[in-house]
Amino acid sequence: MLKKRDVKTLLRVGNKIAAARLRKRMRLITVEFALTYRCNLQCGYCAQVHAEEFRHIKAHDLSFDQVRQVMDNLDFLGVERVNISGGEPLLREDIDDIITIAAKKKFFLTLVTNGMFVYKHLKALKLVDLLSISLDGTEQTNDYFRGKGSFGLTFKGIHAAHEENIPFVLSAVVTAKFTREDINFLLELCEQLNVQCAIVPMISFGICADQIKEVKQFKNVVANAYVIKDMFSYLRVHRLRRFLIGGDYWCKAVIDYYSNNNKKQKRCMAGCLFFNIKANGTVTACSLSADSLFAAKAYEHDFLDSCSGKIPSFNCLRCLCFSYYVLNCMADGELRTLWTMFRS
Ligand SMILES: C[S@@+](CC[C@H](N)C(=O)[O-])C[C@H]1O[C@@H](n2cnc3c(N)ncnc32)[C@H](O)[C@@H]1O
Ligand code: SF4
Ligand code: SF4
Repeated sequence: MLKKRDVKTLLRVGNKIAAARLRKRMRLITVEFALTYRCNLQCGYCAQVHAEEFRHIKAHDLSFDQVRQVMDNLDFLGVERVNISGGEPLLREDIDDIITIAAKKKFFLTLVTNGMFVYKHLKALKLVDLLSISLDGTEQTNDYFRGKGSFGLTFKGIHAAHEENIPFVLSAVVTAKFTREDINFLLELCEQLNVQCAIVPMISFGICADQIKEVKQFKNVVANAYVIKDMFSYLRVHRLRRFLIGGDYWCKAVIDYYSNNNKKQKRCMAGCLFFNIKANGTVTACSLSADSLFAAKAYEHDFLDSCSGKIPSFNCLRCLCFSYYVLNCMADGELRTLWTMFRS
């Protein structure tokens, strides 16, 4: 049942989409903010820790005051949702203070983590609207790319979040190692915990492509189109599919994408309704892009002017990135995806 607050959000977001479309201006709904590219793991598929583009940023996280200024700017711009990501955001020494200042704004605040340090930040994490904990399936599959022992440590975080009643979802990447057993494991775990799970095909191009070539110990990382279609067809008939974020709708989208070589890809509204802030404050259309949209960094005052201007052009790789897919559906007027975005 939609609450009064949800209806107001729907109307506000609807207005922004209409304004962005008709007037071809930026109207921000969601921003993904990488707080650091440092990480305690070195997952084999992760561009954020391996890609050349991020190497020079790693030692230059924004200061607390700059992060605060970014949050102020996003609040001023009326951004609806801020997703804190990384690297591993819980590695920042000042993460509790950052969460506290962000939670005081009107955003729907989400945070993506490998879960390993959740137990250290329970008080602050209770202020987050939704946590996303990454787990790639069974211990064997998870630890292949995410590192030996990571399954157990991530599970510690999952249990801590569960016990403390922190709302969370799980998130898994489909690689060549991912099997039906992993799907069964994840969905049964979600049923036990009564949480939802995102299952997303690994992105293997753009900034991720170079990194895959580089991480030589991981051979045949990328699942081929046939395997992915088989996996998502299996998900479609799974009795526990209701625990899958995006449900049947997302399964169909993945199958369609891998059947049509992205010809039917939705127009992506990254750079217009949503964008990505890198750990040094550079603004790019999405997390896959390394091209700055503006000269100003997100903590600078000129950033506000940049965001009210025309939609900047950038190079799009026509990916099927889950979080952007949901937003693109929404921008196409599929309002039910708002439910996924704000409530799942
Ligand atoms: C970059 S991580 C940052 C947050 C945190 N360190 C974590 O692992 O959740 C954000 C999410 O991106 C996923 N991810 C990393 N590389 C990916 C890729 N090449 N394709 C798809 N998802 C990827 C991770 O599994 C994780 O769920
Ligand atoms: S934990 Fe997250 S940021 Fe770190 S390497 Fe793995 S996917 Fe990348
Ligand atoms: S389709 Fe993918 S690569 Fe293109 S802008 Fe959207 S998220 Fe970025």
